[in-house]
Amino acid sequence: MNLSGKVAVVTGGSRGIGRAIALALAGQGARVAICHHADPAAAATLAEIKALSDGIAVDADVSDEAQVEALFDAANAQLGAVEILVNNAGILRESPLAETEAADFDRVIAVNLRGTFLAAREFVRRGGAGRIINIASDLGLLGREHMVAYTASKGGIISLTRTLARELAPHVLVNAIAPGSVETDMTSPGSMSPEQLAKDMDTPLARFGQPEEIAAMALFLAGPDSRFITGQCFGVNGGSVMH
Ligand SMILES: NC(=O)c1ccc[n+]([C@@H]2O[C@H](COP(=O)([O-])OP(=O)(O)OC[C@H]3O[C@@H](n4cnc5c(N)ncnc54)[C@H](O)[C@@H]3O)[C@@H](O)[C@H]2O)c1
Repeated sequence: MNLSGKVAVVTGGSRGIGRAIALALAGQGARVAICHHADPAAAATLAEIKALSDGIAVDADVSDEAQVEALFDAANAQLGAVEILVNNAGILRESPLAETEAADFDRVIAVNLRGTFLAAREFVRRGGAGRIINIASDLGLLGREHMVAYTASKGGIISLTRTLARELAPHVLVNAIAPGSVETDMTSPGSMSPEQLAKDMDTPLARFGQPEEIAAMALFLAGPDSRFITGQCFGVNGGSVMH
């Protein structure tokens, strides 16, 4: 696959799944803007991107309209018109419903769902034609106790994907990936309880995925071989969801 000349924005591209996607795209020649939220890992990831192609790193909160505009301003000015948008930035909070603060619920929805909406809107407002790839989660399909905001945000991303696929055809193809559990900071013991991590292993393949296994699907969806595919949600999940 040759993505030379294409410009991609990968939100949450500094580490984990986003980093793997950014490197996969850069490895095929795309110029990649990663955005992150005050992540010290961004500089090292940008250096890896630059070893493969051209790129920039922008500290921008995807839930903030002005910062999303600034992200696209920087990408346009330094790399060119954006043709591939990967909405990957996300956060997770774990708490029983009764103990979930409204502010925590709002923050998860703001980053995961509103951030996806804002970046997609900015892409289209600037005449973006090409691909939008939204990172959902298998938990957006399955539900998961103690993750009300996260699962709702991911279910919302899948619905948003279908709506945008209809609205933006044929110039923009919009698809989602719903990963199963992937070994990243988000699934480290400090971020998720041992009980939740144990549940994540209860799949046919009985292991966590690697970020590169999600990036392979993103690369396919960014490239020419997926040109007849829109509005779909791909489970890259070790068999956690089958449909
Ligand atoms: N790791 C998993 O098991 C898993 C499973 C399914 C779906 N996902 C989804 O994949 C995506 C990436 O997850 P990950 O595991 O790589 O997470 P991670 O915590 O390793 O990385 C998150 C990235 O998002 C960025 N980010 C966080 N808040 C942001 C904000 N407000 N604005 C801009 N950037 C922000 C961080 O800087 C970082 O680059 C998320 O949407 C997550 O929900 C992850």
